[in-house]
Amino acid sequence: MTRRFESRVALITGAASGIGRATALRMGAEGARVLCADIDGAGAHAAAGSIRAAGGAAQAAAVDIGDPARCRALVAETVAAFGGLDILCNIAGFGGLKALADETPEGWQRMFAVNVHGPFYLSQAALPHLLARRGTIVNVASTAGLMGQAYMAAYTASKHALVGLTKSMAVEFGRQGLRVNAVCPGGTATPFLQAFVVPAGADPELIARLSLRPDYAMPEHIASMICFAASAEAEFVNGALLSVDGGTVAA
Ligand SMILES: NC(=O)c1ccc[n+]([C@@H]2O[C@H](COP(=O)([O-])OP(=O)(O)OC[C@H]3O[C@@H](n4cnc5c(N)ncnc54)[C@H](O)[C@@H]3O)[C@@H](O)[C@H]2O)c1
Repeated sequence: MTRRFESRVALITGAASGIGRATALRMGAEGARVLCADIDGAGAHAAAGSIRAAGGAAQAAAVDIGDPARCRALVAETVAAFGGLDILCNIAGFGGLKALADETPEGWQRMFAVNVHGPFYLSQAALPHLLARRGTIVNVASTAGLMGQAYMAAYTASKHALVGLTKSMAVEFGRQGLRVNAVCPGGTATPFLQAFVVPAGADPELIARLSLRPDYAMPEHIASMICFAASAEAEFVNGALLSVDGGTVAA
């Protein structure tokens, strides 16, 4: 395996499970020193342990990224542990299917706290460190960040907002050498999909539009694109919305 991240430091949220875990393991295997962060502290520690067991360097932190103070502390902990920061991967997130009429103010706010506010808090705290080392940010959005999807108003709005944050930061800091991109997965086989229960009375045609293919990507397919976007191979890729969805948004 190539070692694209030798001597790099990566802070990865959502590292306990699914796409975040696959990304942490891949970056660790390619030489990155990885801070595995997740609200599931035990899962984050397990991911860091897997990286170390494979010969890599990793630490773990339990963090709710909806908490701005905890996000600032997480960046400081990463820099203290590894001496700097080169790569921020905002992967933690959650979603689910819900009829618009059933959405609640609390549900809407929590969706934005995790899917949008957390990446903003972390990006802002990481900014001076990333600018100092020509670093990069990879945000994990979704097909729902690029197209309207029924029964997902809060999730779709939050992922569109994350795409907006990505593009705005890419423009504001691109001339200073900071690259900010978004990877946009379609349906991927992770525990996340357990929340995707079709609401009673949903229109089957609108549900069918959620994915072009009948099968799911594996988390490693998404991790592969995240690692490309974070690597020097993508040196001129900035502000890009990188779909890994089997063709769903092209349809
Ligand atoms: N799986 C899919 O089909 C799919 C499709 C498109 C986009 N995505 C996006 O991919 C990202 C990763 O999802 P996944 O599929 O790996 O799901 P997952 O449920 O396997 O992993 C998500 C991780 O985020 C963590 N997390 C949730 N809230 C958190 C918080 N407040 N603070 C810190 N960590 C928190 C969870 O504990 C979990 O470990 C999410 O942003 C999701 O929106 C997933």
